[in-house]
Amino acid sequence: MAAGSFLSAITRRLEGKVAVITGGASGIGKCTAKLFAEHGAKVVIADVQDELGHSVHDEIGQSNCTYVHCDVTNEDHIRNAVDKAVEIYGKLDIMFNNAGVGGPQKARIVDNDKVDFERVLSVNVTGVFLGMKHAARVMIPAQRGTIISTASTSSIIGGAGSHAYCCSKHAVLGLTRNLAIELGQFGIRVNCLSPYGIPTPLSKEFVKVDDEQFEMAMNMTANLKGVTIKADDVAKASLYLASDDAKYISGHNLAIDGGFTVHNGLLKFFQYPQDS
Ligand SMILES: NC(=O)c1ccc[n+]([C@@H]2O[C@H](COP(=O)([O-])OP(=O)(O)OC[C@H]3O[C@@H](n4cnc5c(N)ncnc54)[C@H](O)[C@@H]3O)[C@@H](O)[C@H]2O)c1
Repeated sequence: MAAGSFLSAITRRLEGKVAVITGGASGIGKCTAKLFAEHGAKVVIADVQDELGHSVHDEIGQSNCTYVHCDVTNEDHIRNAVDKAVEIYGKLDIMFNNAGVGGPQKARIVDNDKVDFERVLSVNVTGVFLGMKHAARVMIPAQRGTIISTASTSSIIGGAGSHAYCCSKHAVLGLTRNLAIELGQFGIRVNCLSPYGIPTPLSKEFVKVDDEQFEMAMNMTANLKGVTIKADDVAKASLYLASDDAKYISGHNLAIDGGFTVHNGLLKFFQYPQDS
């Protein structure tokens, strides 16, 4: 490999790849769309917020990005987003099922309405299922590709979100594991990401404070001290899973939570020996 192309392979880790990112108009999806494009990918942003989606498209630049209106609960919309990627850029290498909603935050199950529960499951689970299905439709004949979905710490533990949200994110992990088994034979990798709390429109529905207060509250309950999680940390984890660096990683739930979900609250009662 010539020196120039070797350097480019290191610095631009998605050169020549094509990605669809649902929920790419805001928050984690927007940050990931920009990072993927910086790393050489062509990106199709699929979202329901057209104005925001078009502005992310403009920031990335017309030659590397396309915006499509897509409600992930609508199979025709998802089919269209995937087909647009293939039509415009010739293939689909990366499907990032990231769109999600929090839903009403009612702690007591007796206060939760069926219609709200079903709405969260419709976007967070059916939307991911449809994204996986239509990505698989074009990836299987190509015998390559990688599918990533945004789960949450709520895919691992209870009590970090509403009943519907926790249930939906456990389901994203279940879909990820089941599909990783099915698609392994075709060389297609399937993984999900589980971030800790980051201030975005979705999470601020859970905790109605400004970004700084949100981060302070998250840092107080965090396991890993001295650092604050940003959307960029999730985008970088997604970049890793999307890139060939992760060529043997499949069926994995990558927690970006500083150890929050493995923390045992009892440990605070033990005194660790200190180095003198
Ligand atoms: N922010 C956090 O603390 C956090 C933590 C863990 C996981 N997550 C997950 O990250 C993902 C992205 O959320 P975010 O925090 O960046 O929030 P966000 O509100 O900034 O982004 C969510 C995006 O999804 C889009 N969306 C919602 N419903 C849609 C639909 N039916 N069809 C297409 N697009 C739709 C929204 O328009 C928005 O652009 C979600 O799946 C969320 O559950 C977020």
